[in-house]
Amino acid sequence: MSDAVAPVRQFIVAGNWKMHGSRDMIGSYCETLRAGWSQAIGTTPPPSVLLFPSYCHLERLRAGLGELPVEVGAQSVHAEVAGAFTGETAAAMIRDLGVGWTLVGHSERRTLYGETDAVVAGKLRAALAAELKPVLCVGETLDQRRSGAAEARVEQQLATAIAAVDAGLVARLVVAYEPVWAIGTGETATPEIAQAMHECIRRVLADRLGPAGAGCPVLYGGSVTEQNAAALFAQPDIDGGLVGGAALEAPRFLQIIAAAAKRGSKP
Ligand code: PGA
Repeated sequence: MSDAVAPVRQFIVAGNWKMHGSRDMIGSYCETLRAGWSQAIGTTPPPSVLLFPSYCHLERLRAGLGELPVEVGAQSVHAEVAGAFTGETAAAMIRDLGVGWTLVGHSERRTLYGETDAVVAGKLRAALAAELKPVLCVGETLDQRRSGAAEARVEQQLATAIAAVDAGLVARLVVAYEPVWAIGTGETATPEIAQAMHECIRRVLADRLGPAGAGCPVLYGGSVTEQNAAALFAQPDIDGGLVGGAALEAPRFLQIIAAAAKRGSKP
């Protein structure tokens, strides 16, 4: 029998505000989080909590959160370090704000802005090079699931992206499985469907990146709510959630944090 202790994967609840929010909303949101925080958390070790507002709200949200143990991140970064890319934001600019996280390859970026797997890989490389912690989003469309190609599609997205990852930087990588058919639709993957894909993702990460890859947190996203969070978080390979709509309302987000806190960290 081995004495080796399996690494404890970080458990993370992340809120993606997409193109929502305002200065006023940030003030009341932070007040509500602060008022309900200790009741929601309650256990040791607590989950890590992240919020991804629009670029223009990063600093205000961070200031509003104050002493709350909630980190903020950007929703995307450009692959290049600098240059004539009007409207874009470099990873180093995010880091320069003291912000530590970014989403990479969210399905809305892939679908609406033509981000291919190769573009996503470039962004992942840039984020890691700038010392950001990336949440790499992957997930299949409804057609791909119906045709039995869901796992193959996700494996392809992962393989292209992590080919860009330097082995020494793997410890900073977080993956989010977000089936496109479940995002913003109210149709959540069942815990069993999500668990099956998370198991597949963990196998790919372990095969390609070794034990450090197997230790990457893998979050589920796609219509996570305060009602379904506990069942999803109870799955052995689900290490938290990437929450869109339900993260826009602080009381709902607090309930999802509470569901994660009850689940705790798992070996
Ligand atoms: P949703 O969004 O929770 O509103 O489905 C999730 C996401 O897009 O990250």
